[in-house]
Amino acid sequence: MDYLYEYAVRPLIFRLWKDAETAHDRTLQGLSLFSKMKPILSLLERFNMHNGRLPEQKPIELFGLKFPNIVGLAAGFDKQARAWPSLGAFGFGHVEIGTITNLAQSGNEKPRLFRYPKFEAAVNSFGFPNDGADEIAKRIAKGPKKGKRAFPLGINIGKSKVCPIENAVEDYLNSFRKLAGLADYMAVNISSPNTPNLRELHDKKHLVTLLTELQKENRAYALRNKEKPLPMLLKIAPDLSYNQVDDVLSVVEETEFNGIIATNTTVTRPEFMGDVVTKGGLSGAPLMRKSLDMVRYIVRTTDGKLPVIGSGGICTADDADRFLAVGASLIQIYTSMIYRGPFFARELAKAYAWRQTEWPMK
Ligand SMILES: Cc1cc2nc3c(=O)[nH]c(=O)nc-3n(C[C@H](O)[C@H](O)[C@H](O)COP(=O)(O)O)c2cc1C
Repeated sequence: MDYLYEYAVRPLIFRLWKDAETAHDRTLQGLSLFSKMKPILSLLERFNMHNGRLPEQKPIELFGLKFPNIVGLAAGFDKQARAWPSLGAFGFGHVEIGTITNLAQSGNEKPRLFRYPKFEAAVNSFGFPNDGADEIAKRIAKGPKKGKRAFPLGINIGKSKVCPIENAVEDYLNSFRKLAGLADYMAVNISSPNTPNLRELHDKKHLVTLLTELQKENRAYALRNKEKPLPMLLKIAPDLSYNQVDDVLSVVEETEFNGIIATNTTVTRPEFMGDVVTKGGLSGAPLMRKSLDMVRYIVRTTDGKLPVIGSGGICTADDADRFLAVGASLIQIYTSMIYRGPFFARELAKAYAWRQTEWPMK
């Protein structure tokens, strides 16, 4: 299936839609249509999970949730919550939608997505285009309900562009209030390089207030609804110094956030990509080492007590292994799906599951 995508479907898509964002939009349109075709979805789910080729897998229990496998879809693909119900059928063990902002916004100027097939990489400068938390909440509510989903749904929230950094806390809180009832976990994104000043929120003085207030709101929400507080994850940038990471980790511990997603895209460029000067966040294969080092550092510093979801340039089963070997609890992919197709998640999950199977000697 993956070969079919790589050698037939992908060249067709890339030729048909030279503009990467158009290709992305068409794919998403197809998938959202697909999300509404329940019989086909369940057929595909059966094909993926029960065709006898995928070894029986124990779900991974984390944050009080059950993840059917280790591979999730990273934020940014289904920004507007249009296609997520169909994505489990392609083998994803969790899906993170968003980034969603409190206010609707159109994002940065186009073109804002560029592919670099030679490097299996992409550069984007989207800037969170989305219909806003109110509208998207209505859309999510039409999909499978919390507690009845085949996989956990993460909701990734960010700051509205027009909101000055001093008012960021209220802006995040508004998104949280509108979306908490629909999420299995919440990811707080402070790491996109495409919203001016957003990354300043990594600074201790901003971060303490932001995470403290979000946790207060989370606990109040839980009390009101007689539920457990939502698992809260923080998504961080790969471009931090180790001192900055230490600061972030101390705030995460103090505010009892449940985990870290490491990492978002990078604003740096490796030397071998010298001719790539496009502005924005770089993702895909060239990011892998940077994200892997970050995951390793976080796991070591926290003695493995803080769950980390590894994200950044995971393009092969070996890459996935590397992240798990340094202590990631789960992984997420995005760019490799552009190059390897929607069934790549299933391939990774399958490779991992085979490695987990025991072969007891008699
Ligand atoms: C086109 C594109 C859009 C993205 N948009 C978002 C976003 O809205 N929010 C977010 O937290 N991360 C976003 N990301 C970052 C991804 O979620 C992921 O963390 C990053 O790309 C590294 O993983 P990858 O190398 O597997 O793509 C985006 C990435 C890409 C390629």
